[in-house]
Amino acid sequence: MKANKIIAGIALVGAIAFTATGCAGAGGGGNAGGGSGDKITVGFAQTGSESGWRSANTESMKEAFSEANGFNLVFNAADNKPEAQIAAVRSFINQGVDAIVLAPIVSDGWDDVLKEAKDANIPVILEDRTVSASKDLYASWIGLDFKKEGETAGTWVADNFGKTPTNLVVLEGTTGSSAATDRATGFNDAIKGTDIKVLDSQTGNFTRADGKTVMEGFLQKYGSQINLLFAHNDDMGLGALEAIKAAGLKPGTDIKIVTIDAVKDGMTALSNGEFNYIVECNPLLGEKTAEVVKKVVAGESVDKSYIVEDQAFDQEQAKKVLDSRPY
Ligand code: AHR
Repeated sequence: MKANKIIAGIALVGAIAFTATGCAGAGGGGNAGGGSGDKITVGFAQTGSESGWRSANTESMKEAFSEANGFNLVFNAADNKPEAQIAAVRSFINQGVDAIVLAPIVSDGWDDVLKEAKDANIPVILEDRTVSASKDLYASWIGLDFKKEGETAGTWVADNFGKTPTNLVVLEGTTGSSAATDRATGFNDAIKGTDIKVLDSQTGNFTRADGKTVMEGFLQKYGSQINLLFAHNDDMGLGALEAIKAAGLKPGTDIKIVTIDAVKDGMTALSNGEFNYIVECNPLLGEKTAEVVKKVVAGESVDKSYIVEDQAFDQEQAKKVLDSRPY
């Protein structure tokens, strides 16, 4: 095991810091592409297109896995249906791609198909979310510390509202996804022992439409009892914002809103005073993922995980950086 180290990763603007942990072997040599001078054929199984974050992530991946960079990308977006995503990975195995990149919708249920990939000598690299399957079944993971994101959001909430009785509702991300599970754990740990009471917590599937619908239900049920909303991503917060306005309440004032992602629309709402705090979740994972895939296919050793560092913004900080945000 290697000690943690920081590797510089270049994004569209500025540098992204990656914390790399645990050295691992290449996890499979790939079929053809890597050493032969041919393009590397990569099957990328994306979750779907549920959010602004996801669009930015897809764009980053397509840019990094371009022909100019030596790749032949086979792209699939599974519309957030786990069975469809498993079928996509199976189809990549049948096509004999050189490597598979997977952004798993949910954590569970991957053991069989990951074993099939291993048996076919096709390395799998995870990006964004994690799986519960054995680490031996994939070569590396490039992603975010979702638990820390939840903790950062929860700590801000605890510091600002923890000492007065405050009623909270939560819009959770996709049930069973590591993003939703870990953010909930981090957030709940951070607000433990405060005067914040969770009135309700339901999934909004990381989408604006569901965020709006679920918030409408919360408002019908609890009305002006609600003081605070924690949404697991900006898009659900933005949907909720519409529901709050339609109910004649002022988002950011009557109901304080804390979200995760820091995409342009979320940061605009924060700058306008309609959101109160956002924890960043950086979607620009393409360049690092492509670098890891190249190494794995070439049989070089890679670290078991590369974690992107996130920032957090309040309203004043958002105003300062809004124009320079790359997504
Ligand atoms: O897995 C990352 C999460 O997935 C983002 O926070 C959310 O917007 C996306 O859909």
